Amino acid sequence: MIPFNGFSREPSALADAEVAAARRVIDSHWYVLGPEVDAFEQEWAAACNAPASVGVANGLDAIEICLRSLGIGAGDEVITTPMTAFATILGIIRAGATPVLADIDEHTALLSPESVRRCVTPRTRAVLLVHLYGQVRQMTVWTNLCSELGIQLIEDCAQAHLARSSEGAAGLIGAASAWSFYPTKNLGAVGDAGAVVSHDSAVIEKARLLRNYGQSTRYEHVEIGLNSRLDELQAAILRARLPLLVEFTERRRAIAEQYRRGIAHPLVSLLAEAEVPEAHVHHLFVVTSPTRDALAAHLRSCGVETLIHYPIPAHLQPALVDARRDPHGLTGAENHARTCLSLPCHPGVSDAEVAEVIAAVNSFDAS
Ligand SMILES: Cc1ncc(COP(=O)(O)O)c(C=O)c1O
Repeated sequence: MIPFNGFSREPSALADAEVAAARRVIDSHWYVLGPEVDAFEQEWAAACNAPASVGVANGLDAIEICLRSLGIGAGDEVITTPMTAFATILGIIRAGATPVLADIDEHTALLSPESVRRCVTPRTRAVLLVHLYGQVRQMTVWTNLCSELGIQLIEDCAQAHLARSSEGAAGLIGAASAWSFYPTKNLGAVGDAGAVVSHDSAVIEKARLLRNYGQSTRYEHVEIGLNSRLDELQAAILRARLPLLVEFTERRRAIAEQYRRGIAHPLVSLLAEAEVPEAHVHHLFVVTSPTRDALAAHLRSCGVETLIHYPIPAHLQPALVDARRDPHGLTGAENHARTCLSLPCHPGVSDAEVAEVIAAVNSFDAS
């Protein structure tokens, strides 16, 4: 079976570096918010071309902290996409704000600016833009739209590590960005981890307070914060993995390029090509098919593991039935959820396996 995730195929030198990193932390006897976190925050900021980053416990918390650091909360509305991990919407709710769901563009599966316009009310404070699957697109459109509306642009970069459009690096185009280092992300820890990135020093300072009980100095609390501290072990592991991120990202791009060139089937469509190669880091390689479930079954029979991102758009989740949304409906997201299929795209997939996946897709017989 060609697996969807490739941890077991990673270089043994990487595993050795991770074990050494863990040993270093255990020997230091310092386990939460210490020198490894400080160093990782600097290294991650440098990788993003950002002045600073703040390590937090996970990507969900990073979203809540981004919003709260920008003063967004109760009574405010934040527009986002229903085609995302549920955490995107949870982060808005956890900040005390109201999520409003706009539809997606069927060619990219990204938020549609036209739909966002229909969702704007006097209470709208921000657009939370998800760089879904690792693609950063139309950033001038988004920065112009948000400045015209007088609202903040916030980036959910959980799937977009190192993506860079011609308008700038993911995570630095808006006022603040939220990152996840969940193990399967392009940069992943061996547990939960996340970060907030911003060019605004006030956001960084507030995020630092919020992640640690709102504490300014020991036992002095100036905000109602949360416990969202990044631990030393995860930070040390991330530091061991970060040097390979550029190489792993290049490999993802090469795999995606081979898929784009090789897949040719009347019932299988590709999403729009990246605006520039650097603007897509291929966290996921997603195709669409009106006969998606039969295609997935066929690929499984050919030894190819696939997943669906995401089978149920947020507004159809039982927990969100009452969520506010585009008055024209969210049919783009509903269609995508019915038709999307993610193919293996991790750096450990070999060229021969990419060819096998392409042959399997192209041999699909829907009859
Ligand atoms: C787009 C998106 N946003 C937010 C998150 C939440 O990150 P975490 O799982 O670290 O809380 C994820 C990860 O699942 C994600 O893919």
